[in-house]
Amino acid sequence: MLRALTAIFFFALPSIQSAVPTKFAPLQFAKDGTFQISILEDLHFGENAWDTWGPEQDVNSVAVINRVLNAESPDLVVLNGDLITGDNAFLENSTVYIDKIVAPLVDRSLTWASTYGNHDSAYNLSREAILAREHRWPNSRTEQMVFGREAGVSNYYLPVHGSDDESSTGAPELLLWFFDSRGGYYYQELDTAGNVIAQPNWVDVGVVDWFKKTNEELVKKYHKNIPSLVFVHIPTNASLAAQTEIGINAYREPGINDDYTLAQQGEGWCADGSDASTCTYGGQDVPFMKALVNTPGVLAVFSGHDHGDTWCYKWDSLISGMTVEGNGVNLCFGQHSGYGGYGSWIRGSRQVLVSEEKLKKKVIDSWIRLESGGVVGSVSLNATYGEDKYPETPDLLSSCPTCSYTLDS
Ligand SMILES: *[C@@H]1O[C@H](CO)[C@@H](O)[C@H](O)[C@H]1NC(C)=O
Ligand SMILES: *[C@@H]1O[C@H](CO)[C@@H](O)[C@H](O)[C@H]1NC(C)=O
Ligand SMILES: *[C@@H]1O[C@H](CO)[C@@H](O)[C@H](O)[C@H]1NC(C)=O
Ligand SMILES: *[C@@H]1O[C@H](CO)[C@@H](O)[C@H](O)[C@H]1NC(C)=O
Repeated sequence: MLRALTAIFFFALPSIQSAVPTKFAPLQFAKDGTFQISILEDLHFGENAWDTWGPEQDVNSVAVINRVLNAESPDLVVLNGDLITGDNAFLENSTVYIDKIVAPLVDRSLTWASTYGNHDSAYNLSREAILAREHRWPNSRTEQMVFGREAGVSNYYLPVHGSDDESSTGAPELLLWFFDSRGGYYYQELDTAGNVIAQPNWVDVGVVDWFKKTNEELVKKYHKNIPSLVFVHIPTNASLAAQTEIGINAYREPGINDDYTLAQQGEGWCADGSDASTCTYGGQDVPFMKALVNTPGVLAVFSGHDHGDTWCYKWDSLISGMTVEGNGVNLCFGQHSGYGGYGSWIRGSRQVLVSEEKLKKKVIDSWIRLESGGVVGSVSLNATYGEDKYPETPDLLSSCPTCSYTLDS
């Protein structure tokens, strides 16, 4: 009798709890002292909704997400910009694609955090609407901490607490910073000639000021520089300078390097803030680059945007022509995860493994999980990254003749 009652009690409890949507607990290192992040970038859902090709790409992209998450066990998924191809969006349903993107995450009770990319702002799609759609799920940790027309939306930070910090009240072991590099076009706005209006494509200086001030407060509060990872959709000019002035070495910085020259923040804008077609780069990301190298905790910056670049580069010098000197921060691309968007490089997802033990030495590990199931570009972002020799990453394409897999899951 007692046994039966107990069984009923335990059986009933979960359904009572799940009736109330609960907020996910603060992020925390697992009991084994690790914290893993899977980065999905440039998913580009919602292309060509008017034909069969577009919706097929979304089915393929969902298969990529499932394959990656079947092989990896992340504590957090980062959606690093260009979730939706807003240029193809219809006003009445431009954000429904968020539901399709997060379904494989919700199925696995995973939690995620987004940055928004240049294709997430268009005449028929706004960043605010994407955020509201994300917030229908308690799994979403995306926030807006800076407001105003120039700020963009996805600017915020998330603390990650230590494995033994049961109540998550101690100093965070790790900070995750998310920045909005904007771009695309303003929502439902046209100029007097009836043309869409371009939104600047760099992290705004007001956001940089918020970052510096907020980080200063955290240093004061916890009496230390907390190790940090940065996520931003569009890379800075430092990545371009590394690529063109120094060169990416296939064995020391393994990865695909086909987007040559890469597109960076401020690309296509003039120094005076206008977007005349005569200007190639306006230098507006200099304050952001300065803030990154002047923030001692920042270990790595992860970007997307350039689908054909997948390397990490340790920026540890004053690169010719630049005014900002690197301090050893790692500048990493991920892997194009979606079937939408340009390029047919093999799809996949960069993994970032942080451990409490290695964090003491400012070391993080990273690799790329491919849709084929394989792993490439496994590196340790340690003190000698950039000198250590690794296997070259093969320049594979999706559905290449020699690929033995089919996307059916
Ligand atoms: C969104 O609306 C367009 C235009 O009506 C339609 O073609 C498309 O299938 C819709 N997308 C979704 C995901 O429902
Ligand atoms: C915006 O959405 C409306 C309504 O679906 C559609 O008719 C129009 O073509 C779209 N405009 C652009 C610029 O995408
Ligand atoms: C941007 O990168 C280019 C190299 O491609 C370099 O010549 C230039 O000086 C850099 N500018 C700034 C402001 O970083
Ligand atoms: C960095 O990692 C690589 C690869 O594991 C290793 O060979 C190298 O010795 C490491 N460097 C340091 C300083 O630990």
